[in-house]
This record gives sequence, C-alpha cells and structure tokens, in this order.
Amino acid sequence: MLGLKLPTDPRWVNIVEKNIEEILTDHAFCEQKATSTAISLIVSFPEYTELVQEMVALVKEEISHFKMVHDKILERGWVLGRDRRDDYVIELLKFFPKGGSRTTQLVHRLLYAALIEARSCERFRLLSEELQDKELATFYRNLMVSEANHYTMFLGFARQYGEKKEVDAKWQELLEYESKIMSNLGKKETVHG
Ligand SMILES: [Fe+2]
Ligand SMILES: [Fe+2]
Repeated sequence: MLGLKLPTDPRWVNIVEKNIEEILTDHAFCEQKATSTAISLIVSFPEYTELVQEMVALVKEEISHFKMVHDKILERGWVLGRDRRDDYVIELLKFFPKGGSRTTQLVHRLLYAALIEARSCERFRLLSEELQDKELATFYRNLMVSEANHYTMFLGFARQYGEKKEVDAKWQELLEYESKIMSNLGKKETVHG
C-alpha cells in the first residue's frame, strides 16, 4: 500500500490505545505542520501557479483537520498540550542534501511531503482498523482517505516539475531509506513514533 516498504507492526495500536490523549496531541500538531508546509511551499515557490492553487486548498483542508482533532481533545475533557518531538521527521530530513538547483529543492520538498502523507495515511488506516474505540476508528477512517489524496498530489507534482525518471529513482531510494528509519520505530504513542 502506498509504496511503503515496511508496514507498521499492528501492536503499535496497543501502545496508542493506552494513551489516547498523547496520540491526539501529537496528531493535532501533525495537522498544524501539514498546514505550515503548504504555506511555506507557497512562499518559497510562488511562480508554480498550479502548486500555489493546490496549496491554498490544502491549507484550508489541513487546518480543518487540525480543528477536528482539537475538537476531539476538547470533547474528551482535555486541553491541547505542547508539540511533541518527531524523531521520524528529523531522521527523514537527513536524506536530502542541502543545496542543488531550485527545481531539485522543490522536488525534494514535494517528495518529503508525499512520504509523510503516505506514512500518516498508513498509520491512520491501522488505527481505523484496530482501535477498540469505534468512534475514534471512524474518525481515522475519514482522515485516511484525505491523506491518501495528499500523497498522490505531492508525488504527482514532483513528477510534473522534476525529471520523471530521476524523480521515480529518488522516490524509490527515499522509500528504502524510510523503511530503515521505521524499523526502529512503532514503539511510541505518536503518529510517526
Ligand atoms: Fe491532514
Ligand atoms: Fe495531509
């Protein structure tokens, strides 16, 4: 599914289930970061008109996801906590070299975004299938569909703006690299932990 090389161990859901407040807090900030990424792509690459248009739509969608998660936190009588450290994202960023042409930079940012969307989608699918809390399971099913669309959109833009063969090769390398990161994760109650 989604080209990912290493599926998440379903036992990760058992860890999550013991601390719903933690996953919701981390998840809220994932949605905030998705919003910020979309804004930052507009700021960095304003001349890519089609991308800008899609990012405007994405900003609205991701901030609405943030609100949905925030509402869930409030419904359960909690208050949103501080952002959590995302080791997955820190490791992922190391894959991309600094510098390169503007197009290369854009392609890297798009592939990075595509992968985070893909992995989040995979995690949401697992939650939607395995969570005992059926209300939350349905919540994650709906979000999973959105994130799958985002994954395809980002990958599509990378192929459109970059050299397709090079982009596909880079994407495969990135998937390999990501599977190695993932082999050490799946032990924390965070979206990518
Ligand atoms: Fe989202
Ligand atoms: Fe997304």
